[in-house]
Amino acid sequence: MLRLKKPEWTILVGLLFLSLIPCVGGVIRLIELHGGPEIMPHNPRVRSTPTPVVIHLIGSIPYCVIGILQFLPTLRNAYPVWHRRSGRILIVLGLLSAVSGLWMTHFYEFPKELQGPLLYWGRIFVGIGMIVSIALGLSAVLKKKISEHKKWMLRAYALGQGAGTQVFIALPWILTVGEPAGLTRDILMTLAWVINLFAVQLAIRRSRIADHPANRRLHQKTLVS
Ligand code: HEM
Repeated sequence: MLRLKKPEWTILVGLLFLSLIPCVGGVIRLIELHGGPEIMPHNPRVRSTPTPVVIHLIGSIPYCVIGILQFLPTLRNAYPVWHRRSGRILIVLGLLSAVSGLWMTHFYEFPKELQGPLLYWGRIFVGIGMIVSIALGLSAVLKKKISEHKKWMLRAYALGQGAGTQVFIALPWILTVGEPAGLTRDILMTLAWVINLFAVQLAIRRSRIADHPANRRLHQKTLVS
């Protein structure tokens, strides 16, 4: 029986928890758009032009959930063929998520209180950042530069997971201050990507230290071992 190490359980449960609300919300929206009951808050952009959001959710939901398994060294080492195959699918899913996200950012007509210039440019940066990171991650693995591959795929995933972090930033704000709007909302949303990028750079830095031969034991415990 395959046994995950304790830090891997932390990664698995933590990232599943982070993905939970955006992914469940996305599944409910997909059901709604296919004639199901209206449960999600009304979104006129999604109602009038549903195709990009359907593509977005079909890409984003499995990217977030299946993507987690790629970062578990025990699974990766035990099933390298599966890692490669699901990696190829995840590249397509990640690109679908980012490109459709960019499309919606630019072409959906947002009222100013839902997307000001800060959030607009934040989303453009994140969408392009995800595409570039996935491309560099793919190029690195084709050149057998495995350590570079891991770093870029981690960055791409962290940018995508901004959706999850946004929930955990917005929720306490809504409960204590009320529904954020305008610049406050833009700042809170953008902050999520900043936090994710900071966290992933920290993980990469720690793994670099772990890569040092003197720190092999620590290496086994890190996310990008
Ligand atoms: C990969 C993880 C992601 C997940 C799980 C996710 C999830 C979602 C969900 C659930 C919605 C709600 C749609 C609705 O109201 O029905 C949404 C909308 C949207 N997402 Fe994402 N998303 C992700 C990544 C991204 C990225 C990287 C961008 C930016 C490039 C982006 C930009 C957008 C935009 C612009 C909307 C439309 C918002 C609106 O109309 O109010 N998303 N996403």
